[in-house]
Order: sequence, then structure tokens, then C-alpha cells
Amino acid sequence: MTKDTFKNLKDENKTYKNLYDGYWKESKSGKYTEIFSPIDNSLIGKIQSMNKDEVDKAIMNSKEAQVLWQEIPVNRRSDILNRAADILYEKAEELAEILTMEIAKDRKSSISEIQRSADYIRFTADAAKNLEGETIPGDSFPGTKRNKISVVTRVPLGVVLAISPFNYPVNLSASKIAPALMAGNSVVLKPPTQGAISALYLAEVFNMAGLPKGVLNTITGRGSEIGDYSVTHKEVDFINFTGSTEVGQHISRITTMKPLLLELGGKDAAIVLEDADLDITVDNIVSGAYSYSGQRCTAVKRVLVMQSVADMLVEKLKDKISKLKSGDPREEAVIITPLINKASADFVMGLMEDADKKGAKLLVGGKRDGNLVYPTLYDNVTLDMRLAWEEPFGPILPIIRIKSIDEAINIANESDYGLQSSVFTKDIDKAFYIANKLEVGTVQINNKPERGPDHFPFLGVKSSGMGIQGIRYSIEAMSRPKAVVFNLNNVE
Ligand code: NAP
Ligand code: G3P
Repeated sequence: MTKDTFKNLKDENKTYKNLYDGYWKESKSGKYTEIFSPIDNSLIGKIQSMNKDEVDKAIMNSKEAQVLWQEIPVNRRSDILNRAADILYEKAEELAEILTMEIAKDRKSSISEIQRSADYIRFTADAAKNLEGETIPGDSFPGTKRNKISVVTRVPLGVVLAISPFNYPVNLSASKIAPALMAGNSVVLKPPTQGAISALYLAEVFNMAGLPKGVLNTITGRGSEIGDYSVTHKEVDFINFTGSTEVGQHISRITTMKPLLLELGGKDAAIVLEDADLDITVDNIVSGAYSYSGQRCTAVKRVLVMQSVADMLVEKLKDKISKLKSGDPREEAVIITPLINKASADFVMGLMEDADKKGAKLLVGGKRDGNLVYPTLYDNVTLDMRLAWEEPFGPILPIIRIKSIDEAINIANESDYGLQSSVFTKDIDKAFYIANKLEVGTVQINNKPERGPDHFPFLGVKSSGMGIQGIRYSIEAMSRPKAVVFNLNNVE
């Protein structure tokens, strides 16, 4: 593959087009959004602001394409996805550069996002081949004879609208597209505006891998302009959304009888008991809270530590956090990079102001330089502070000191969010006691919260989401059982 493998998706002025019916097309709207890099404000390119008629055409085209796609044998769908995974691997360095510029993700994490997406696609291609239906004999139910048998298979839902967020524009697009396609659906991808360019490259990877025309179409434009129209479109059969709780709840309010998978915000707690191995705990809390500058739904967003070990934990955290390298994500070993935009940095600074006013103790950071917010640690955070409850999506961590396990459980569960929690302890009985009581999708024992490995179920409860991701779970979410009941005449 040559260097200009991706020449089709943009013109010489770096204006990116949309994938429609197998070709990269310009919008007739004549409107564009300029995408600037959060690193240095340089112009990366322009994306098209599609109008509603064009969104409609894309959805209708996907609907037609799905009819043929569902007839293609699973092993051939799987071949196409495996080719897409190969291309992603081969192009990982080139795509990572684009991702780094577009969302200011450090280089190592950008490469890892691309490779993880390739692994995800490959695993999905294999997993779908191993999914089986079932036959259910009728006579196990009272009053039914042996002459009835139900043959249950899984069938696609139709057109899946995939909406991804800025923080993983490639991975959280791929992890919707791949299982949707393997289940026999077509996909309309609405990428985040900041992150759209990286996601459009991913779409071209699927296109190059030989996906039939129209099975994957892309729609770009601000969510505030085309979002409501897309999610309420009558030919969209399923919405697979990852993003903020605010937008997720809005989608849930305005749609009627549309199946939804919503992966939303979080306020994951790390609960630290007296007997925790503090070195393991600190490593996990720091990488959990600060990687990609805290812009992960599963970031550690509060520490609930037993008073008796709090001073020791705080000293170790201070030491490690002070050594985190901040700056340009293209430079070696940089972890803390500029936040996605000014509004995000302003929001984090607002949380600090509130915490300062209410008497929290600033231990590290507390400063910004443009959109770069330095890694920040607060001790003695109390429950009247916004930092105790709100999702910062930035590199800031509150420490809340607790006196008992039940106090930790209560504070953890008082949150509106319920994505994940971590418990750090060597006592398996206490770990199970706490895990059983926490109102979250996943509890991690002696590890930071995290989505992977990607075949594990991943879900949020309460305001953190609805439905389940994870390779097999995602395929099942985007398909439904279909039963054919055989009624045999010559069997009693
Ligand atoms: P966001 O502002 O909610 O945007 C997410 C996506 O929704 C973007 O593609 C956005 O498009 C689109 N959108 C906006 N308004 C819409 C509407 N009315 N209808 C349909 N789509 C609409 O979230 P974000 O800032 O990109 O991501 C950060 C948030 O996502 C955080 O809260 C984080 O916790 C959450 N998140 C959750 C998970 C999880 O798995 N639980 C994973 C990653 C992120 P535009 O960009 O054009 O506005
Ligand atoms: O915020 C993105 C979410 O999907 C978390 O993924 O791998 O960072 O835990 P991960």
C-alpha cells in the first residue's frame, strides 16, 4: 500500500468528504466545520456539515444495502473484517499521527487505540462465526406435546446508527461498526465533530477492505444540527451511542420505541482499605486518573481512602503525580496533554475554584496554560464540593477520607453515575462484601477501572448507561432472536 492510500477521502484543500454508497462524496450544503488541533491550534482539515436531506439519503441508502448484506454468509463478512483489521495494523503509525493531532492523545496511546481497534475487529469477526442458535423442545412446558419444536436463530435489526465520542473516535467507532456488521446490519456512522477526521479514515479502512456499497455510510455535521434528526429518523432501527450523560438522556427522551445502547459518563471511585498494597494502589490510581489527561469515562474520578492509611497514600500519590510529564503529545513520555477545548479546561478550573473556596487542600497542580491543565490532586475533599460528585473529564483527582467500609459504600452509591469502581485490599471477604453492594456495572479488585479486555461485558447503570457492550454482548445487542416453530403431525 502506498503513502497516498487514503487519497480518496479528502481533496487537495484538506476538505474531508463522506462515505456514501461506496464513494467519498462532497456535501451540497456548502458548509464546513474547520477542525483545529488542540495541540497548537493548527488547521487539520475541514469536515462537511451535511444537511438533513443528505442525512436522509445516507440512511435510506444504508437501508437498501442492508437487505443484500444480511444475505452474505457470515464467513465472508468475517473475511472482510479481517482484511480491515490487517489494514489498520499496517497503517497504525500513520493513523496514530492523525489521531494525536486531532484529539491531542499521546503518541503511545494513539497507536494503542488503533491496534486495539484492529484486535477488536478481528476478535469480533471470529466471535460471530461461533455464535449458535438453539432448538427448544416444546414438551418441557406443561400441557405441550413432543410435536412442537422451536428453532431459534439470531437475525439483524436493520440500520444501526453509531454515534461515537471525541475521546476514542477510532476505537469507539470500530467497536460499534464491527459487531453491527457481523450481526448483518448496515451502519450509519456519526462521528464526533472533533475526532471526525480520524473516524473517517477508519471508514475508508472498511471500504478498502471490500465492504459492499452502502453497508457503511458516514454523516458529519454538528450533533446539535443533525443529531436529533438522525436519532428520530424512522428508518434507524438501533442507536448505539457513547458520549455524555446529558446527550444520552436527551436521545432517550426524544426517541420512541427505538432500541438504544447508551454508554455514558462516570464518576468511578477507587476505594482503598487499610490493608491495601499501597504501591500497586498508587500505580493504578495514577494511571487510572491521569492517562489521556483524565478524558476517559473509566478514569478514576475520586479516591475514598480509610483515614488510617490516607497520609501514606497521599504522600505516594503526590510523589508520582508530580513526576507526570505534561506538554505536547508528540513528545516522548508525555501523559498530560491539552484538553480537547477551552470549555473543558474552563470547566475543570471551575471545579478547582469551588474546591478551594470550600476548604479542600491543594497538593499538586492547580494551574493551567491555555487548555493544558496540569495534573492536580486535592486532599480533604468534602461532600459539599462539586469535585466530589461531578465528572471533570480532566486531570484532577479528589481524595475523600473515610472512617468505615460502609461509609465508602454509601458515598460511592450516592453518585448519579454507576460505571465502575475499584477496591484495593488483600482481604477477599471485604472485597466481595463491597463488590456486592456497589451499584456499578463492574467492580475491579486491585486494579483501576477499565473497559478491556474487550470481550468482557462493559456497562453502566443509573446515569452511566443502558445496555451492554463487549464483543459477544454487542453482537447480541444488535441482533434479535427469531423463532420458527415446527409443528409435527406424525409425532405425539
Ligand atoms: P458528547 O458531547 O455527548 O458527544 C458524543 C457524540 O454525540 C458526538 O458524536 C456528538 O456530536 C454527538 N451528539 C451531540 N448532540 C447530539 C444529539 N442531539 N443527537 C445525537 N448525537 C449528538 O460527548 P463527548 O464530549 O464527545 O464525550 C465525552 C463524554 O462521553 C464523557 O461524559 C464520557 O464519560 C462519555 N464517554 C462514555 C463512555 C462509556 O463507554 N461509558 C466512553 C467514552 C466517553 P458532536 O461532536 O458533533 O457534538
Ligand atoms: O472513555 C472511554 C471508555 O470506553 C474507556 O475505555 O479502555 O480507557 O477503559 P478504557
